[in-house]
Formats: sequence, C-alpha cells, structure tokens
Amino acid sequence: MDQISDSLKKNIAVIGCGYWGVNYIRLFSQLAQVNLVAICDTQTDRLNSVGEKFPLLRKYNEVQRLLKEESLDAVIIATNPETHFDVTKEVINAGVHVLVEKPMTLISAESKELIDLAKQKNLILMVGHTFMFNAGIKKVKDILKSNEVGDVYYLYATRTNMGPIRTDVNSLWDLAPHDISIFSYLLGENPIEVNAIGKVILNHEREDVGFITLKYPSGVIGNIHVSWIDPYKVRQVVVVGSQMRIMFDDMSNLEPVRIFHKGVEVSHHEQIGFGEFKLLIRDGDIVVPKLNPSEPLKNQALHFLQCIDENKEPISDGMNGFYVVRIMEAIQESIHKNGLSVQINYE
Ligand SMILES: NC(=O)c1ccc[n+]([C@@H]2O[C@H](COP(=O)([O-])OP(=O)(O)OC[C@H]3O[C@@H](n4cnc5c(N)ncnc54)[C@H](O)[C@@H]3O)[C@@H](O)[C@H]2O)c1
Repeated sequence: MDQISDSLKKNIAVIGCGYWGVNYIRLFSQLAQVNLVAICDTQTDRLNSVGEKFPLLRKYNEVQRLLKEESLDAVIIATNPETHFDVTKEVINAGVHVLVEKPMTLISAESKELIDLAKQKNLILMVGHTFMFNAGIKKVKDILKSNEVGDVYYLYATRTNMGPIRTDVNSLWDLAPHDISIFSYLLGENPIEVNAIGKVILNHEREDVGFITLKYPSGVIGNIHVSWIDPYKVRQVVVVGSQMRIMFDDMSNLEPVRIFHKGVEVSHHEQIGFGEFKLLIRDGDIVVPKLNPSEPLKNQALHFLQCIDENKEPISDGMNGFYVVRIMEAIQESIHKNGLSVQINYE
C-alpha cells in the first residue's frame, strides 16, 4: 500500500477510555489513514493507565480543553450513554465530525437536535451500530434481499450473558439497541408497536432482564431477549421465513451464519373442510455460506472515514440513531405500563 502523507491523514481523538473506548484507541492507532493524536477521559486514573499503553497520545481530562488545544478532523465518543448528548453537541459545535457510540442519546428529542446541528454545520454524524458492519449480518441482509427466504414470518434475537452489569443504564438500553438496529437494517423498516417487560432481579434499580416484542408495518414480528444475569453467553439472531430459516451466531467463529433450507407452509389446495388445513413441511440442506473474515469495528471506522472524505451520509447515520432511541423510549414506556402495547411514532 502506498504511504499516506501525514498532511492527508485525519487527526482523530477518542473520548472515553473505558472498556469499549480502548478498542477504538487500538484500532485507530493502527489505521494508516489516521493520526490518532489524543485521548480524553474525565477519570484521571483511567486516562493514565490507557495512556501508559499508548505513550505517544496526548491526554486530556476535559472535552473542552481537548477541542480547544487540538486541531481535530474527527472524534469518537465512547463515554457513558447519559453524556452522549452533551459531549456530541460540544464536538459538533467545535466543527468536528463525530462517531458516537450507541445509544446515540437517552432522549429522542436530543438525537434530533444533534442531527439538525450536524446538518447545519455540514458535519458527519455517525452512530456506532456496529452490527451493521458485521460480515455475518451483511450476509443475512444479502440473503433477505435475494427473496430466497420467501415470506419473512418473524425474527428473534437473544443477547444474554453473566454481566458485565452497567451502573448507568439498564440491560435493555445497554443491549437491545444492537438488535433493534439489526432488525431495522435487515427488514428495511422500523417497528410501529412494542410490548416489553423487564425485571429488576439483582439488588439495584435497573432491569437486569428484558423481553421485547416489536411489530413492523409489514406484519413481521421481532422478539428480543436481553439479560445480564444469564449464565450462558448467547449472541444470536434468527430469521424465520417460508422457504428457510437463517441463523446468525456471533459466538461461532466457524459457522457464524447457517441457512436451513427447511420451510413450512399451509396448503391452500388440500383443504379438507372449514377450519382445516394441511401443513407442508419442506426439508432441505443446511448451508454454511463463506464469509470473508473482517473486523466489524474496523469496517465501521473505515466507513466513517469514507463518509468524511466523500461527504456522504453513513449507513448508521443520525436518523438511524434517533430511530433506535425512539424505539427504546417506547420499550421503557411499555415496561412502566407492565407490558401494555405502546405505539411508536417517529414525529
Ligand atoms: N458497539 C458496541 O458493540 C459496544 C460495546 C460496548 C459498549 N458500547 C458503548 O460504548 C459506550 C461506552 O461503554 P463502556 O462499556 O466503554 O463504558 P465504560 O464505563 O467502561 O467507559 C466509559 C468511559 O467514559 C468516561 N467518561 C464519562 N463521561 C465522560 C466525559 N464527559 N468526558 C470524557 N470521558 C468521559 C468514563 O470515565 C469512562 O472511563 C457506551 O455508550 C456503550 O453503550 C458499545
């Protein structure tokens, strides 16, 4: 690969050096197109311990000072969700492109405000819906686009593990944004209604477990189960259609996507009488499609850089982030109403 001259490289900083921010720091410190120049975290001990591993990076414990003292092209925000709005607003106001982690904000009106602000300033605003950059999920999307699945009946996702338990948001706000963004990406539509229940099991104030049912305009049903207190780590998305069932398993390195060419249909020709019908079960092969291995976070980072270069909307743009936050608000409302249906409008 040709050497990229330093003047063409983008100056980037990562704000938030916690569990997830460190992945961005590692990644951006290796990308040829980028000068990772600085990191920022309000916790000095965190900043110093990460700084020791990356001694060339300048360290800041205040976003304001980082933005004032560095000449930045773009910033990655991997801070706690409740800070996303303020930090993103500050970065956009400083005229810097931004990739903010999910959930974009905790209030949908605030997501809208950020979208408007970025538009006004002609800046890229992207949200870290990492699974939209996962080769397995992309493969599932390609299969759906080819119509081989037939009618999509429903899809479901399971995202369970023993911890890590967050102290800033509940398990639903922590985990479900992944599956909501996956479902919308796969189906090409956003849900219009939700029922959700959650339960506080451990001795704190936030739901550790949640069950969500989403209804889509096409009639498809999506179900999401999230948990922090399940002894078994599962990261699966399953799409069930009339012609096949597709399974994405993020825990499987060997077979992340499996296609079961097995379907079930109701016969319309062999009705015996009123209310009676015959189920036609079609048996078929189980196929494991070939995927080119790639790191989702790297794909996401490269897409962000490309959007900056070409001044184009990211596939996980601000609107995408807004939809997920709006859906999460409706989920939370349904939990408060003990699982009652909540209509989701996106006004
Ligand atoms: N896309 C993914 O797959 C994925 C995975 C894990 C986490 N995340 C997201 O990444 C974000 C961070 O999660 P985490 O697990 O790393 O959390 P964390 O608590 O481990 O780290 C957050 C860090 O941000 C710092 N911080 C908070 N407010 C700040 C501010 N105003 N300025 C500078 N630093 C500040 C904290 O001191 C902390 O070190 C969350 O939004 C989370 O949802 C995304």
